[in-house]
Amino acid sequence: MKVLNLGSLNIDRVYSVEHFARKGETIASTKLEINGGGKGLNQSVALARAGAEVYHAGAIGSDGTFLQTLFESAGVHTEYLQMSKAQTGHAVIQLTPEGQNCIIISSGANDEIQEEYIDEVLKHFSPGDFLLLQNETSNVAYAMRRAKEKGMRIVFNASPVDERMKTYPLELVDYFLINEMEGCILADCEEISQSKYGEIIETVFLKFPHACIVMTVGSDGVIYRDIHKKASHDGYPVKVEDTTAAGDTFCGFFLAGVIQGLSVEECLETATRASAIAVSRKGAAVSIPDWKEVSRLLTTR
Ligand code: RIB
Repeated sequence: MKVLNLGSLNIDRVYSVEHFARKGETIASTKLEINGGGKGLNQSVALARAGAEVYHAGAIGSDGTFLQTLFESAGVHTEYLQMSKAQTGHAVIQLTPEGQNCIIISSGANDEIQEEYIDEVLKHFSPGDFLLLQNETSNVAYAMRRAKEKGMRIVFNASPVDERMKTYPLELVDYFLINEMEGCILADCEEISQSKYGEIIETVFLKFPHACIVMTVGSDGVIYRDIHKKASHDGYPVKVEDTTAAGDTFCGFFLAGVIQGLSVEECLETATRASAIAVSRKGAAVSIPDWKEVSRLLTTR
């Protein structure tokens, strides 16, 4: 079973700051690091490090060829990557000493994904294969429809959440991977608090009763709902260095677990551990552990 990740690739410019810049304020960063990132890229790296056969489709400009090298060393298949005349997408990330971030993205080549390209790539996949999507590329709705027509399973990480998403054929999605904020928007709820998590996931589930809903809730862990089952897993207490790509690591390991035939509980466990490792390190793709490291942690618990 193969995974096609039609996803974003970004160059992350990470500025270490004492606090996030406030309205009208100019602040100096104490350090600048340039890393490979993008929700799509991070999720493909996590999938590959978790042992899945993952093909990444997406677009980069000539300034982003190091992202292809990064994929190759992680074991991600890159034959469907597209070179674009546009600049590679990039992200401006402010990172505080507490490891919290605040991100601005500029789509660049991620917005150059056209319908013809999607059709071409999908030819290489079969019924039962997975299509993984996030909300950082163009033509997401088209990809969902065409992949479903082929009998592929759709996994949607509804991030970053925006108005476009309401126009997507979300009834075609088999797995939603969301955080509490994205869940709140999908559920049309008014406020987010710990006491509302159960209500939020239930409302999302009632809207999409054929899907599996996986909702991460920051350091509180994750909750899960499908037609047969409700499950949850607590977060692991770790010293937070950088939360960037924690959700992406979770997505990659969760989906890899599904493909390996693990139970829902095992998928939640490995994905929670993998993302705990990722937040204990700096950077996006570079912070993602591999299966060996996660399983070492599983056996020493
Ligand atoms: O999820 C983290 C990612 O979001 C970063 O790597 C950044 O590129 C943005 O897409």
